[in-house]
Amino acid sequence: MKKLIILFVLSASFITSSNAIDNAQKAKALKAIKHLENAWYSKLTEKLKEDSKGFSAVDFCHKRADKITSQVSDMYKGVTLKRVAVRYRNEKNRATKIDLPVLKEFYKISKKRQTPAIKVVETKKTYRIYKPLVIRKPICLKCHGNEKRMRKKLVASIDEKYPKDKAKNFKYRQSRGAIVAIIKK
Ligand code: HEC
Repeated sequence: MKKLIILFVLSASFITSSNAIDNAQKAKALKAIKHLENAWYSKLTEKLKEDSKGFSAVDFCHKRADKITSQVSDMYKGVTLKRVAVRYRNEKNRATKIDLPVLKEFYKISKKRQTPAIKVVETKKTYRIYKPLVIRKPICLKCHGNEKRMRKKLVASIDEKYPKDKAKNFKYRQSRGAIVAIIKK
């Protein structure tokens, strides 16, 4: 009986390993994520240079972040990019049941002042590669930091665009969410 169980466990692990994401797919997903991060971040900092108070940067995030996500996503065939968060600003980025445990783990690790690592999750039909987005730059706090310390007019501008905003009051080095690259099997 014991042997049978061992055999069963062994064969099950073979099945998962033969199904596992291959390196080329993972590399492509990571490249797409990096591309999105760079495109978004360079535009964000450009807008903040133009207007250090942050108004045009908020407008940029509001009008363009979603578009940039799908545009970059379209450049990588077979990869769908999404931004996800537990405490989201844009409801579209609300974490799903699959995302939640990953994001909670990232948050827990970041609270211990450690850096969460990229995580691959396998579902029946997909592979999901999660890149944690940790608040590592003070500029993030301009729009996601302590509400009382944020510029009042900027808070008003954010609240007007996102009446149900949950993405304020983050602290430096906390995990804010993730970019996830979804690959269909
Ligand atoms: C100028 C204000 C501003 C700054 C600075 C800023 N954000 Fe945001 N952030 C926003 C807005 C507005 C949205 C909502 C965008 C949308 O509608 O898709 C957002 C959305 C996000 C999201 C998507 C999830 C969600 O809640 O909708 C993540 C993740 C995020 N920001 C992380 C960061 C990080 C990390 C930094 C620092 C590098 C940062 N942000 C800097 C304004 C800002």
